[in-house]
Amino acid sequence: MTDLPALTAQALEQIGASDSLPRLDELRVHWLGKKGVLTEQLKMVGGLGAAERPAAGARINAAKSELQSAIDARRATLEQAAVAQQLAAGRIDVSLPGRGEVTGGLHPITRLRLRIEELFRNAGYEVADGPEVEDEFHNFEALNIPADHPARAMHDTFYLDNGMLLRTHTSPVQVRAMRERKPPFALIAPGRVYRCDSDVSHSPMFHQVEGLLIDTDVSFANLKSVLHQFMEALFERSLAMRLRPSYFPFTEPSAEVDISCVLCGGKGCRVCKQTGWLEVAGCGMVHPNVFRACGIDATRYSGFAFGFGIERLAMLRYGVNDLRLFYENDLRFLAQFARG
Ligand code: FA5
Ligand code: MG
Repeated sequence: MTDLPALTAQALEQIGASDSLPRLDELRVHWLGKKGVLTEQLKMVGGLGAAERPAAGARINAAKSELQSAIDARRATLEQAAVAQQLAAGRIDVSLPGRGEVTGGLHPITRLRLRIEELFRNAGYEVADGPEVEDEFHNFEALNIPADHPARAMHDTFYLDNGMLLRTHTSPVQVRAMRERKPPFALIAPGRVYRCDSDVSHSPMFHQVEGLLIDTDVSFANLKSVLHQFMEALFERSLAMRLRPSYFPFTEPSAEVDISCVLCGGKGCRVCKQTGWLEVAGCGMVHPNVFRACGIDATRYSGFAFGFGIERLAMLRYGVNDLRLFYENDLRFLAQFARG
């Protein structure tokens, strides 16, 4: 019989030196498999004398189980190493700085519109809406601007082929509101308007906010007080405000609204052209002809209306010196308004 201790020693050495699970399996088959070295040894035991057989069998079985334990131990070690290697390869460094997400923000015009809506809602005003494609009746006629009225030329209107037009102001919403509601009511109507006009302070599309309040005994003093409180709330500071006599066909009397310059505090600067005042809105008492066109009794009710440009107010509130910046959608400009 072959030298069993020598074979065992050789097998143990190979097992100890095996560096992978496939290699270890090869060794198991080689030494302990059905045709393995030790199995062959066991087969030879049959050829021995009866006296020697039990001891020889026992020794071979002992060798087999010794190798089996060595293989099991080596397998455990190799499996652990494989897991450790996988973990090391897929390791995530949680201390690395993240890539981050850029959060979007509302457009400054939208921000300001929402703020204006909130201020008026808090004062009990409803927020109303009207179509941007209007007819001549709502945009002009019902507002006391007949076809031959010179104010039509001042409006730089975009006309459509079908006889409709792009509304030149939010005042047609006044007409729609008065025809749909019964006084008393108070509303504002923010929205887009269009004029054939373009420079640093004029854009062919811009936003206005219309205001309309109708009740019995509404006075010009009420109008002035509402506008003054609104301007102070919007700019979050005390402001002087003045009304300058003006003309709109749909209001009588009419006025233009100036506030003390928010940039120089009224001392005079480039923005207010050294006057200390900024024009921010048009306003007046609803003209009896407008009440008539809308089916409201002008002897019983009175009301005020006003209209201002959101872009103009946004330029003042955010210190923007060119209105066109609001429409170029340059992210470097827009990102400055993402918060605050
Ligand atoms: C009107 O549009 C009247 N409907 C306002 C009104 C309403 C008066 C109710 C009385 C009663 P005006 O054309 O002045 O008025 O425009 C009002 C405001 O819109 C201006 O003060 C200005 O802030 C803004 N605005 C006018 N044209 C442009 C433009 N092309 N680009 C940007 N803002 C403009
Ligand atoms: Mg004007």
